[in-house]
Amino acid sequence: VTERGRRSTAPARAWRRVGRGAVLVVAAVGCRGTRDAPTEGRAATIATDAASAAPDAARPSAPPALPDLPAPPPVPEAPIGLPPADHPAVVTPSAVALGELLFFDPRLGRDGVTACATCHDPARGWAGDQARATTVAGKLNRRHTPAIVNLAWVDGLGWDGRHATVDDAIRTHWKGQLDVAPEDALGAVAAVPTYRAHFRRATGRAEPTADAAIEALAAFVVTRYQGDAPFDRFERGDRAAVDADAEAGYVLFAGKAQCATCHVPPLYTDHEFHNLGLASGDDGRGLVVPELTGAFRTPTLRGAALHPPYFHDGSAPTLEAAIDWHLAGGVGRGAGRGGGVIDPALRPIALTEIERGQLVAFVRSLSAAPPPVRRPELP
Ligand code: HEC
Ligand code: HEC
Repeated sequence: VTERGRRSTAPARAWRRVGRGAVLVVAAVGCRGTRDAPTEGRAATIATDAASAAPDAARPSAPPALPDLPAPPPVPEAPIGLPPADHPAVVTPSAVALGELLFFDPRLGRDGVTACATCHDPARGWAGDQARATTVAGKLNRRHTPAIVNLAWVDGLGWDGRHATVDDAIRTHWKGQLDVAPEDALGAVAAVPTYRAHFRRATGRAEPTADAAIEALAAFVVTRYQGDAPFDRFERGDRAAVDADAEAGYVLFAGKAQCATCHVPPLYTDHEFHNLGLASGDDGRGLVVPELTGAFRTPTLRGAALHPPYFHDGSAPTLEAAIDWHLAGGVGRGAGRGGGVIDPALRPIALTEIERGQLVAFVRSLSAAPPPVRRPELP
């Protein structure tokens, strides 16, 4: 089911697919890219100016000198297996470095304990470990915490795709999950000179603003990738990268089991919304497009082995359970009751036990072994 036409109303910034990859289109009006866009060069100039102003510190009006920062690492490149990522100009090394600090910082949450990374856990492929996480306000989320990976190619954020951009998703999400408006959360951060130095370097201004924080968080989020999986190495000619089961599993995935209809390589998603008959009582995409009641965005399968449980409601405890749900044609557990119509592309498929094992082995081969988790030292 396609609804591309409806997305033309998306605001200034939108991801548009081109062939199998994607490019970012930035429209001229009201877009972040044209607005006094901070660049690394410009930030460096400002830092120099501030340093030369330092002798004036005795003057009561002079701002306190801010600490020097180590050079930020380069913006991470999309790993092999993924199309090239074309980021907007605001995704700079400085913005990613600032976004990383904010992402891990529990001072952003009302309780001083919960950070973005508490739910989007880097040790679990940036997804949640519970079926549904509880917000800082104590409310059980309606949906499972998704893996925030390969979002550079996604143009509708959230399981129902209702947010046009990553920035939009974070802006609404911050208050909903962390129980404090971004504007109000930044007081603690604004008091830390190293944070001010980060904001100055990333945006040109030392005073943290909600917009700058959200832009930095978005820069960090859109540069989280899942790629360079064993199957990518196999496809590049390393015959030993996967075993014979995974190799046979790929043939099933693309053929008899019809998974590739929706999980289209190389991102293993079609960027569309489908109803798999899960009986969560959640209208999903139906909240945006009524005829798609019960449909949810096809998640990438890259990195999936790292983050059970599965589906928008976290109802499949294992990869096997998630795959079996598809193979059964999306029926069981009272599926479909009042939840819209199961996508006709999802049909019951009979596999032998051996074939099922091969299919699971292939899906597992789309996940690289997780690199050691690097948590930044917070200022
Ligand atoms: C209490 C748990 C929790 C916290 C804390 C949290 N999130 Fe989320 N996040 C979720 C859930 C649940 C969703 C799915 C929401 C939906 O689809 O309606 C989500 C979705 C997202 C998405 C959209 C992902 C996609 O695949 O479309 C982004 C981006 C995101 N979160 C970023 C953040 C950032 C940045 C922070 C910190 C400011 C944060 N999250 C804090 C639970 C959390
Ligand atoms: C009709 C489109 C469609 C087909 C065909 C399809 N899937 Fe899916 N798949 C989806 C959608 C949509 C979701 C998310 C559903 C939800 O959460 O409501 C999903 C979710 C998954 C998940 C869980 C991912 C996660 O992060 O939660 C796995 C694993 C999966 N699919 C594997 C497969 C395999 C293997 C096949 C072939 C047997 C397959 N899919 C066929 C659309 C499809």
